[in-house]
Amino acid sequence: MISSKKIIYPFDVTLSHLTKNKKHSISFQSDDFALFNDDSLELMRSFPENHVDMVFADPPYLLSNDGFTCQNGQMVSVNKGKWDKSKGFDEDVKFHEAWISECRRILKPEGTIWISGTYHSIYQCGFLLQKLGFHILNDISWFKPNASPNLSCRFFTASHETILWARKDRRAKHYFNYEAMKNGDFPEDNIKKPQLQMRSVWSMSTPAPNEKEFGKHPTQKPLNLLKRIVLASTKAGDLIFDPFNGGGTTGLAAKTIGDRQYIGCDINKDYIDLTVKRYNRIVEQQKLFEGQL
Ligand SMILES: C[S@@+](CC[C@H](N)C(=O)[O-])C[C@H]1O[C@@H](n2cnc3c(N)ncnc32)[C@H](O)[C@@H]1O
Repeated sequence: MISSKKIIYPFDVTLSHLTKNKKHSISFQSDDFALFNDDSLELMRSFPENHVDMVFADPPYLLSNDGFTCQNGQMVSVNKGKWDKSKGFDEDVKFHEAWISECRRILKPEGTIWISGTYHSIYQCGFLLQKLGFHILNDISWFKPNASPNLSCRFFTASHETILWARKDRRAKHYFNYEAMKNGDFPEDNIKKPQLQMRSVWSMSTPAPNEKEFGKHPTQKPLNLLKRIVLASTKAGDLIFDPFNGGGTTGLAAKTIGDRQYIGCDINKDYIDLTVKRYNRIVEQQKLFEGQL
């Protein structure tokens, strides 16, 4: 068993590593939440090694191939943005290998990584996790009961995403909040039975309208999904990193649960701005709840 003493760096120390030599600048910062508008590969290279407790990564699915899908009964383009265009199989694999390798370097030995994706990308990521020495703990099926119908009627309606959970080192003791997962309250999920072990199929609808009040990110994850992931795999004081922040759902889950430090990175400034609006709303709601407003 690898023994690694739990070192909690003050958040400021972590951020000063990242901003050393003015290589990266912080777009938004509070005492436990920071956002960088950057290429995450570059940002990760400035992290000290063995530093992060948990990574949640929702990388581009690289499926923006000019096709169409159905949304709310309307035909819409599948294109999410330039960031989601495939550069061909080999280049896509190189991209995934580069960022997963950096995640491995910055994770603590007992740290874990979650990677979400569809069949367009998840097999490449799973193969690379194994190639790079991670030990896969689970492949979660996130079933979407409200998935959009299939327009072509020539194959099944895609209605789930896969979320891989892996630990950096097979011999290290990773954290799993078994009690909270077994005995917690999950009213959004009709597969989870009260007081029984949490299984690897999770049923949850796509983000509710109130999660899009400031505009929506095209691949935004539901807050409940990330709350479950953060609660299952992190404890108080842990540092969470999301290299593909998007609308900031991972950080917002960490903020909602509390006592976590979060760093998110996105190459697109609009998504950083969206995250700040969503973050401020959560802080406002928390203050209201605590009677400070
Ligand atoms: C699948 S989305 C993440 C959605 C997010 N999980 C959420 O709930 O909103 C992927 C994000 O990665 C960003 N991205 C793509 N390439 C990037 C890179 N090299 N560095 C940083 N961000 C990148 C995109 O701008 C996009 O917002």
